[in-house]
This record gives sequence, structure tokens and C-alpha cells, in this order.
Amino acid sequence: MKNILVTGAAGFIGSNLTLKLQELHPEARIVVVDDFRSGSFKNLQGFKGDFVAADVSRLDWHKQFKDLAFDAIFHEASITDTTEHGQFLQSHDNIEGFRKLLEFAEPHQTPIVYASSAATYGISSTAEVNREDQPPAPANVYAFTKVQLDNLGRAAARKNPSWRIVGLRYFNVYGPREPHKMAAASMIFQLYTQMKAGKRPRVFRGGEHKRDFVYVKDVVTLTIRAASAPKAAIYNCGSGVAFSFNEMIAELNKNLGTNLEPDYIDNPYAFYQPHTEADMTKARVELGHVPAFPPVLGIADYVAILEGKRAA
Ligand SMILES: NC(=O)c1ccc[n+]([C@@H]2O[C@H](COP(=O)([O-])OP(=O)(O)OC[C@H]3O[C@@H](n4cnc5c(N)ncnc54)[C@H](O)[C@@H]3O)[C@@H](O)[C@H]2O)c1
Repeated sequence: MKNILVTGAAGFIGSNLTLKLQELHPEARIVVVDDFRSGSFKNLQGFKGDFVAADVSRLDWHKQFKDLAFDAIFHEASITDTTEHGQFLQSHDNIEGFRKLLEFAEPHQTPIVYASSAATYGISSTAEVNREDQPPAPANVYAFTKVQLDNLGRAAARKNPSWRIVGLRYFNVYGPREPHKMAAASMIFQLYTQMKAGKRPRVFRGGEHKRDFVYVKDVVTLTIRAASAPKAAIYNCGSGVAFSFNEMIAELNKNLGTNLEPDYIDNPYAFYQPHTEADMTKARVELGHVPAFPPVLGIADYVAILEGKRAA
């Protein structure tokens, strides 16, 4: 890849992705777009490419990039605070940004990998494994916008059958370069921070809700791999393992050498996913992707990084 575009590159996943692309393609021209609404320049330390400060939904893409044909576009930009309920703002910036990106990429049929979300599955019944062909059931406007991205991507690929537009439904991503997300950072980071301060880790009553926690290094691997997908498709991007909050606390205690008991609190949310679990069969069969970091390994690697014992 000689010319690569990444949107949302100052964010958590976008920065990990951008720095990995730079490592894998040292000769490539990497252009990134971000408007810093949730990201931070601190995530891009060491970035040698071109930073375009712009909102993807308001950018004049053709004026900005002329007819430059990128070899791949990775679209991570999105309002990511799922509690931001401004329906017009979320829909405008997330959906119209993607529509503009598709219009820009269509003449060259540039391969696009975009961030969809497990939130599109909504509230699954307990122990249900999430498969890509499950009907969407967005429970908030953020998830609604991701369903629209999937619809737009599918429609563009139907119109241009050889155009490779790949959506990745990220599950609960955790890993380095997420502290800027504050309350929206992963539960693993939240609990680690509480435990480091000597506090009991706070989780919703029972602590037995399970989530598919996926390490950002696996997310980056699949995102890059998806740019070479043979055809347009939507894939789950999880670890394939459902892990409870109690299990997570046990792993954090093990890695930190602490013995802090969970502090169970009432759950204030009416809409709360009891269980998420990615069926990773499609990504394995079609893209050869096998996650390298089940939660136990991912948490150990992440804690080592947070403790300064390993580089990110
Ligand atoms: N982290 C997760 O667990 C998770 C799960 C599912 C899906 N996702 C998706 O992955 C992508 C990356 O998420 P993240 O966790 O890195 O969040 P993040 O908030 O750290 O990153 C999002 C980045 O996009 C930028 N941005 C937002 N709207 C923009 C716009 N209109 N124009 C330009 N830049 C804009 C922000 O400034 C930020 O740098 C998002 O699309 C998100 O919806 C993340």
C-alpha cells in the first residue's frame, strides 16, 4: 500500500491502527483525518504522516484530496459516546460523514474498511452468540447510525459489485491509547484505574454479565486484513469469548497482585446488554483471522503496558 487514508486517527482504535500501518508500510504516504472531538494528539506520538484537521461530515473531500487514489481507506471516525443522545448530531456526523466518504471513493472503488459495532445487535437474550446475519436491533441512536453505515455500505457494494467495502462489528475493545475516552473507555481500563487507587472495583450487581472483550491488537490485525478481503462483507470483530465482569476483576487482581473484592452497585440503565459474544466463524473462514489474545492474555499484556513494563 502506497497511499493510505485513516479517519478518526487521533482516537483509540484509529491511533493504534495508524501507528501499526506506519510500521508495516514505512514507505507509504499515510494521511489521517480527525477533528479531535473525542481523540487526542497524544495518541499520535511518532506519527510521520499528514494530519488533516477536519470533520468528515463537513469536509469537501474532492477539494481536499483532488483525484488522489488511495490504496485503502480505514474509516474509524464516529461520535463514540453512546450516551450522547442528540439524534440529529449523531446521525448527521456519523452517517453523512460515511456517505461523503463513499461518494469520494466510488470513482476509484478504493477498498474501504469501516467501523461498525456490536451495538447493532441490541439487547440479545442471555447466552446468545451474535452472528452477522442476525437482524439489527439498535437500542440507541449510536447503534442506529452504525446500522445505517452497514446499509449504506451494502447498497454501494450492490451498485458496484467488485467494490470491496468491509464493515467490522467491533465488540468491547480495550487496550493502550484509550484513557482520553474517560467514562467511555473500556471497563477493563475503568476497573484497573479504580484498583490501582486501592478502591474496590465497582460493577453492576452480580457481576455475571458477560461481554466479548477484544484486545485492540487483535482489532488492528483484523482491520488491516479486511482491506484485502476478497469481496464486500460485514464481519464480527471480537475475541469470540464471553467473559464476565467478575472474571475480569479476578484477572486484574492476579496481574496486579491485589485481592480486591467487587463492589456491586445497582444498574441504572433500562437498556443494558446482558451478554455479548461474537461468533468469529465468518472472519476465520473467509479472512483466516484467529484472535491471538483471549481475555486472559489480552488483560495480562494490557496491564504490563499500563504498568510501564512493556511498550504499547
Ligand atoms: N472502542 C470500542 O469498544 C468500539 C466498539 C464498537 C465500535 N467502535 C467504533 O470504532 C471506531 C473508533 O472508536 P474508538 O473507540 O477509537 O473511539 P474514539 O472516540 O477514541 O475515536 C473516534 C475518533 O474519531 C474522531 N471523530 C469523531 N467524529 C468525527 C468527525 N465527524 N470527523 C472527524 N473525526 C471525528 C474523534 O475525534 C476520535 O479521534 C468508532 O467508529 C467506533 O464507533 C468502537
